[in-house]
Amino acid sequence: MGNIKINFDNAKDFEKKIMKYSRQVKEIHKELHAKADDKNEFCGWLNLPTNYDKEEFEKIKKAAKKIQADSDILLVIGIGGSYLGARAVIESLNNTFYNIQANNQRKTPQILYVGNSLSPNYISDLVNYIGDKDISINVISKSGTTTEPAIAFRIFREIMENKYSLKEARSRIYVTTDSEKGALKTLADKEKYTTFVIPDNVGGRYSVLTAVGLLPIATAGVNIDELMEGARIAQDRYSDENLKYNECYKYAVLRNILYEDEKNIEILVTYEPKMHYFIEWWKQLFGESEGKEQKGIYPSGAEFTTDLHSLGQYIQQGRRNLFETVISIENPENDIELKKEEDDMDNLNYLAGKTMDYVNKKAMEATIAAHVEGDVPNIVVNINKLDANNMGQLIYFFELACAMSGSILGINPFNQPGVEKYKTNMFKLLGKPGYEGK
Ligand code: PA5
Repeated sequence: MGNIKINFDNAKDFEKKIMKYSRQVKEIHKELHAKADDKNEFCGWLNLPTNYDKEEFEKIKKAAKKIQADSDILLVIGIGGSYLGARAVIESLNNTFYNIQANNQRKTPQILYVGNSLSPNYISDLVNYIGDKDISINVISKSGTTTEPAIAFRIFREIMENKYSLKEARSRIYVTTDSEKGALKTLADKEKYTTFVIPDNVGGRYSVLTAVGLLPIATAGVNIDELMEGARIAQDRYSDENLKYNECYKYAVLRNILYEDEKNIEILVTYEPKMHYFIEWWKQLFGESEGKEQKGIYPSGAEFTTDLHSLGQYIQQGRRNLFETVISIENPENDIELKKEEDDMDNLNYLAGKTMDYVNKKAMEATIAAHVEGDVPNIVVNINKLDANNMGQLIYFFELACAMSGSILGINPFNQPGVEKYKTNMFKLLGKPGYEGK
């Protein structure tokens, strides 16, 4: 049984047009699934929840246990698809203050991220913070050549080798990369680091359910069996080529219908601050997949209610090119009842006996009504609670929706040619050999 329920009621005018896409959806579904087991295509993520390397999965669990036992901190070095998925899951499912909890409350290592910027301040602050704490490193790069993580790894490898014996430093470094290619793979082989493989047919932003996401996620104490089980449920649930019965494909189609109607910015909304990085993961997934050939919906994110006090005005009355997809969580892990006060100085007694989640939900209902009235169509993605199983379902749901949506748009949702432009310019400015005159 899947727990995701989609409510299209607040995009009704558009919903009527959905079924016109039936044939196209069926064709794309067939094309995507025909490529799922092809090593030379980028559709391996489609079958990952059922067709993953079970041996590697056990090796991940074993490595996570070792890191939990010998490290205060796991440093995750990676950028884009090589860290956002892990961070999305870890921060959504763990305590909001996980990284600053006392060790006896947290019980598993702090997870800190680096190699996702070129800021010397960030790295200096991190080095200072680490001090004499015990660390392990998981460096993740599919290409094995990305500049930001490569620089961070060079710096932290030296720190590790000064901090521990060479043998111990090596035993604390875990490399997730391609099975054969790239500078990182060459280095890992030379130094005999423990390595994990990113399958050839799974691109960076679709890789959270491989070792890319699973090692940091397991180290942070999240149950990766449940995560995979959730993804398996979604794989099964959204396997119907018939648009009528496939809500994931309906969402993908609706996005395109809205786009045709000049709604070219989608805001993914959460009322749960823990989901901040889930939104970041989603933005990367859709932005890098769809923004091509001068086409594509611009993926944006908002956390309500805080952003209602910053972006709310624009959303209500600014340019009418927006639509929202709201993730609603039915039952919070914790709730707080508001008490009655004798003097009612803050005028809040009208809420006495109500819970904070009740207020949050009313804020959501009120906001959806206001935005829909202001011509911002709303799609609501409901889950019953925030847990590993639902997280696995959401990941698969959005990955599949993205592939379908991008294919309907007529672009290739699995490449990212535009990202190379800044790199070429940067390498030229930095004098990287081979980039002279480019
Ligand atoms: O989704 C993608 O392919 C990208 O965002 C990559 O994950 C990102 O550029 C990092 O690349 P790599 O893993 O090769 O270091």
